Amino acid sequence: MKRLIVLSCLLAFTMAFTGQALADGKALVDSNKCGDCHQMAGPAAATIADVMKRKAPDLFYAGSKFNKEWLVGYIQNPTQLRPAGTVYRNNIKTEGDKDIVGDLPKCASKLSAGDAAAVADYLMTLTDASMAAGVFKQDKFKKARAKILMKKKEACDACHMFPGKKGKPGKGGVSCPTFAGIGARLNPDWMYSFIKHPQHWDPKVWMAKREFTDAQLQLMVNFLSSMK
Ligand code: HEC
Ligand code: HEC
Repeated sequence: MKRLIVLSCLLAFTMAFTGQALADGKALVDSNKCGDCHQMAGPAAATIADVMKRKAPDLFYAGSKFNKEWLVGYIQNPTQLRPAGTVYRNNIKTEGDKDIVGDLPKCASKLSAGDAAAVADYLMTLTDASMAAGVFKQDKFKKARAKILMKKKEACDACHMFPGKKGKPGKGGVSCPTFAGIGARLNPDWMYSFIKHPQHWDPKVWMAKREFTDAQLQLMVNFLSSMK
């Protein structure tokens, strides 16, 4: 009997504690004004005019998109993920035949380690229930085959930067998130879903929907996941 009481006390304490951490995470998102720049609730922008007004990437499906450990680190010390900004056209001036990237709006998040953990816990609850989990199969893959598909055939590097060797700057486009470190950043099931149907996540995104086989998607996501 005594043991039962101790156990149920422990349980009640744990439940209250995790509930508290989530509430704190949400309160911290509000008090740090993350929502001034990020859309914290859906739906995503449905017109080009609204896309152009976007100040920062949408976070209302953060729990489907990100790996939690990466989130905890990033919101303490954000780095540049999109070499020409969230909406690249808003930051580029054309002078003659040259495109010049202006001062880029950066993520303002500078949370302490403790606050970052609470905010990440909360962000991980913001999921899209329609996304299938456990779709990605980590497997041996041929890098050369992935590169032929992604660079030669599909020109993913027209928009995305591939990581360079040994931490050197990579090659590719600047209008979209870099692939450098993408394996640490993103949930592979989300990458699979996004590449298969980008417009499910962002109706006006300028990445085309293509008809890929499951084998092609697995190959690409295995390659991307290896970019840590
Ligand atoms: C002043 C505007 C601003 C505020 C306030 C802000 N951010 Fe950001 N955030 C940005 C921008 C701009 C980016 C895109 C940076 C990049 O791509 O390099 C970003 C990127 C991010 C990302 C990565 C998103 C992705 O899809 O790649 C996360 C996560 C994030 N912010 C979390 C937060 C949190 C949590 C807060 C509040 C504590 C916050 N941000 C406050 C502007 C802001
Ligand atoms: C015409 C430009 C373009 C091309 C070509 C393109 N993408 Fe994208 N991609 C985008 C845009 C725009 C986004 C979303 C940008 C954002 O979140 O700010 C995106 C996002 C992504 C993301 C999510 C990245 C992140 O950090 O949020 C992945 C993964 C991705 N693309 C993979 C691919 C692959 C694989 C290919 C080739 C089959 C490809 N893309 C080709 C424009 C492009």
